[in-house]
Amino acid sequence: MKFKKSDILKFRRLIWKYYKEYGRDLPWRRTKNPYAIVVSEIMLQQTQVDRVRGKYEEFLEKFPTFARLGRARAREVLKAWQGLGYNRRALSLWKLAQTVMKEYKGELPHTPAELEALPGIGKATAGSVAAFAFNIPTVFVETNIRRAILHHFFLKKRRVSEEGIWELAAAVLDPKNPREWYWALMDYGSMLGKTVPNPNRRSASYRKQSPFQGSNRELRGRIVRLLLEQSRLAVSSLLALTQKSEARVQEILEALEREGFLRQRKGIIMIAK
Ligand code: ADE
Repeated sequence: MKFKKSDILKFRRLIWKYYKEYGRDLPWRRTKNPYAIVVSEIMLQQTQVDRVRGKYEEFLEKFPTFARLGRARAREVLKAWQGLGYNRRALSLWKLAQTVMKEYKGELPHTPAELEALPGIGKATAGSVAAFAFNIPTVFVETNIRRAILHHFFLKKRRVSEEGIWELAAAVLDPKNPREWYWALMDYGSMLGKTVPNPNRRSASYRKQSPFQGSNRELRGRIVRLLLEQSRLAVSSLLALTQKSEARVQEILEALEREGFLRQRKGIIMIAK
């Protein structure tokens, strides 16, 4: 697809203008510390900004560096993660810290390709970390950016391809200051999320988040919470406490075990060391 230079420039002007007036002052925008940026970006992957704010500061106080986080016990890390949901991310972040210590001497790599190879980091987070920590003019699309682009360039279209959105993200990127450009673009997209019907529904890859109540995600969260309180727990007690079928509970326990959360021995479960 070819875009008109004037449309691109117009879009940039709109985004910068919005940012000058309404740009958000967020705690993770006051630092260039790669560790703090990684923590914030992983938290922000699936959790709203307002919920992340408080947790981010708390987490950094408890675990201020890759070294400290890497040395922590899994249960400490999971405890600090409580309230953010999707606790698999806590474990990925913990493993990421260990990888950075072991393979990169405690220094986060800079390139999106190296970042993407780390635990818990996908294409979008590799891009956001490269841009926010190192000001690298990389192209990435996350939910706010997708919304901004769909709203502005694909207002009447349906089933817009992911490639089309990335192509636009590349075209509009202001290479002079990628760090601030992406802050601005995300702020604009976030505002749209609160004011217009969700433009992301018109993306071909759009999936509605499934209901939380009664989901495996909810049960999984409950199991992890129980384990954090008890440290060791009989599977039979877990079944009694959750009132769920053995098959469903076992399925979740096996997944948690595969991911390195817990160990199961002779009907007793415990959090991995
Ligand atoms: N500022 C920096 N990273 C952000 C993100 N992922 N979401 C919203 N604002 C941000």
